[in-house]
Amino acid sequence: MAQRILATLNDTRLFLQEWLGNPRRTGSVIPSSRQLAAAMAGWLPENRASYVLELGPGTGAVTAALIRNGWPEDKLVAIEHNSRLAELLRRRFPRATIIAGDAWQLDELLLRARNPVKNVGAVISSLPLLNFSEEQAEALAQKIRAVLEPQGSWVQFTYRIHKKRPRGASTFRLRASKIVWFNLPPARVSVFQK
Ligand SMILES: C[S@@+](CC[C@H](N)C(=O)[O-])C[C@H]1O[C@@H](n2cnc3c(N)ncnc32)[C@H](O)[C@@H]1O
Repeated sequence: MAQRILATLNDTRLFLQEWLGNPRRTGSVIPSSRQLAAAMAGWLPENRASYVLELGPGTGAVTAALIRNGWPEDKLVAIEHNSRLAELLRRRFPRATIIAGDAWQLDELLLRARNPVKNVGAVISSLPLLNFSEEQAEALAQKIRAVLEPQGSWVQFTYRIHKKRPRGASTFRLRASKIVWFNLPPARVSVFQK
């Protein structure tokens, strides 16, 4: 228990440092709560042979929840822009494929990975889309659409809780949406299908 509290405090300090260095890109002052991470991780593909793609994993709050929910670490690919955070994630999740890069290049990055990945069963994204323009969000959504398997889900959280559709999701079918109040700030988790 003490170890878990220490780890949480360390992650919070690291996140705060990164946020001070680049607030718009980091998108949050502290990592997501366990409750928010659990809500994101509740949408794993049924087919365990699929891959899950995580965008913007940060210090790994959602990544850890995916693994706690039984997702095999070696079927997880994560793209994190911040190279310091990507390095931390590689130590923390050694069997996952952690790519230091830009989520907007996800198609190329997935194909260039150690084990190239063409399609994924779910995209779990914590990207701060509110800090990107409508056009940028739309461009990302097109790339997500192209990589998702036919029944795959795109799970996205946003701090703009009054809107069920985050930027870029206008052409996707909304499958579920709920607010997670126990997070700083409260967040809405929305799930989309093609
Ligand atoms: C709001 S934080 C979420 C972190 C973590 N998933 C969590 O829930 O605690 C957003 C994360 O997205 C990353 N990020 C921002 N822009 C990115 C981009 N273009 N490509 C990949 N990651 C990006 C940031 O570095 C940060 O780690």
